[in-house]
Amino acid sequence: MSVTVRVPAKVNVQLAVGAARPDGFHDLANVFLAVGLHDEVTVTPADALRVTCSGPDAAQVPLDRTNLAARAAEALAARHGLSPDVHLHIAKDIPVAGGMAGGSADGAAALLACDALWGTGASRAELLDICAELGSDVPFSLVGGAALGVGRGERLTELQVGGTFHWVFAMAERGLSTPAVFREFDRLAEGVGIPEPVASADLLDALAKGDPDALAATVSNDLQPAALSLFPELADTLAAGRAAGALTALVSGSGPTTAFLVRDAEAGGKVAAALRTSGTCRTVRTAQAPAPGVTVISG
Ligand code: C5P
Repeated sequence: MSVTVRVPAKVNVQLAVGAARPDGFHDLANVFLAVGLHDEVTVTPADALRVTCSGPDAAQVPLDRTNLAARAAEALAARHGLSPDVHLHIAKDIPVAGGMAGGSADGAAALLACDALWGTGASRAELLDICAELGSDVPFSLVGGAALGVGRGERLTELQVGGTFHWVFAMAERGLSTPAVFREFDRLAEGVGIPEPVASADLLDALAKGDPDALAATVSNDLQPAALSLFPELADTLAAGRAAGALTALVSGSGPTTAFLVRDAEAGGKVAAALRTSGTCRTVRTAQAPAPGVTVISG
């Protein structure tokens, strides 16, 4: 008996970052959009907790208890007086350390898969609570679709999306550490007054209408200058996608994956082809949004 679930990646169409808080985190206005690049997590009863991973980036995925999938199984088991004796297999397609919430996705996926396997019947509220303990982006990976995250990004309000958005993603040659990007944000912000992060009404309206031109005009990422400061070559990738006709180009979350919004699948094919031959990135993928959150696909 095993359970397999599917979980999407995310792009942040707005990432407004406030000043560092006393606990080191930053208050955010974080508009998440789930995109159709997926990991699959399969959970099977075992003698002891163990994690394996397959896929092109598998070698970069930690297989110890720091993996959010393992931590999710432990957290759910602890709350229900169970032993987390499962084999978690991650079929990884979301870029690792890419700013697309791949690790968070595996945490949310493992949580739902273990809940189904063990029949714990945890409520949505309990699952979201455990997700928030695991990391700021984990609740959104569970929910999918589109949502505004405030606080650390973990307090979610679901958003309406009025159409399908087409995206191209360029994966970089190396990863970026999220804490390092936030530290660079703090360094660049020294001596500068940082306003309270607020969601853009025009951006929420563009999402609700499903209007790619209006969305392109309103996307923003306050972490982008920090990501570019640590990884200046990303500017070349952004320029290559813009030159090929992307409506807008931005760093996804803390990066280094770059995201290109395009009008339709045809435009996406052109931007993807241009990026592939540009020599400015490792891999290029196209995907549509919004995508549903964690979904049980077998078991
Ligand atoms: O919540 P999570 O563990 O995914 O966050 C990873 C790191 O990103 C944190 O340790 C912190 O350095 C940074 N972070 C932050 N403010 C947030 C979310 C994350 O500073 N709202």
